[in-house]
Amino acid sequence: MSKIQNIPSLRSQLINWYQREQRPLPWRLQVTLYRTVVSEFMLQQTQIKTMLPYYERWLTSFPNFEALAQATSEAVLKHWEGLGYYSRARNLHRLAQIYTQLPVKPNNAASWQQLPGIGPYTAAAISSIIHNQAIAVIDGNVVRILTRLMHDQSHYQNSSAAVKACADWAQNLLDPENPGDHNQAMMELGATICTKHNPQCSKCPLASHCQAKDQTPENIPKIVRKKTIKECIDRLWIQKNDALALYRIPQDAHQLAGQFELPAAEHFPQSTKADKLIASYKRSITHRRITENIYLAKADSLKNNIKINDNLHWVSWKKLHTVTLSGPHRRWINELLKLTTNEP
Ligand code: ADE
Repeated sequence: MSKIQNIPSLRSQLINWYQREQRPLPWRLQVTLYRTVVSEFMLQQTQIKTMLPYYERWLTSFPNFEALAQATSEAVLKHWEGLGYYSRARNLHRLAQIYTQLPVKPNNAASWQQLPGIGPYTAAAISSIIHNQAIAVIDGNVVRILTRLMHDQSHYQNSSAAVKACADWAQNLLDPENPGDHNQAMMELGATICTKHNPQCSKCPLASHCQAKDQTPENIPKIVRKKTIKECIDRLWIQKNDALALYRIPQDAHQLAGQFELPAAEHFPQSTKADKLIASYKRSITHRRITENIYLAKADSLKNNIKINDNLHWVSWKKLHTVTLSGPHRRWINELLKLTTNEP
């Protein structure tokens, strides 16, 4: 592994490529602080093609910090439904409420990092794009490009160790004259050309600088993967006339607070009868491989057993679209509704 040579030429090749090839994304076509902040929150754990329709809807409903600050939590979560990692939505909402009240607005990475939901990565993105601060963004894309450029074959224990190792390299490479475009160009290159699998080295503007190009770039970076854990969750489909019993995750829960989902069997006494398995879904959350089995429970036999309480609600078909469902529950419920009723 040797250092990157001729940094000025690398910077200009990167920027020229970005100016030619960048995707016309909505927060690039019209750059404002608010649009940048929203895009960076949505992109924290989500790919561009998934978040784009959410982004457009969000800007229509909450066009600026003031509108977002005044929105209800329910409306905010509803707009985020399906994007996952809901703490991002709650943090963005709180950020808007704090930001609009601040007499002195943040204008650099350190002051942005004081606000909810903003870590070093998002702070660097916002302050380089909006305040022209020369601070490098380091995400998985940037790690991939840097470790490949240098043919760094170190084994990193996790992605934060790799991010740490890349910090000085990224800062050295950053174009101080044009930090916002440089950072976005790195992210763009990682997302479109220097991809994890099948990198397109023949199209890469940095190929002449890359020490991994003729080796096996797809094997770099070497990051030890967490062992996968298998889990199984049994859930109940409890239907009564025109309603479905849904569990509302308690407000003090660490994750997904306030959202609805199909109740897990563990929410009921052992004696609760489930009639038959009607669906089995598999999903992955980071390193967890989860099988979710949905059992049909006849409301007739359960009606008297179910204690409708703060956490368990009958939600009518008509109201179903108004509640925020966690994760893929909306998709499952829509599929199962077709199976179990003639409704929606
Ligand atoms: N990922 C996070 N922020 C991004 C941006 N501004 N452009 C492209 N990809 C990104």
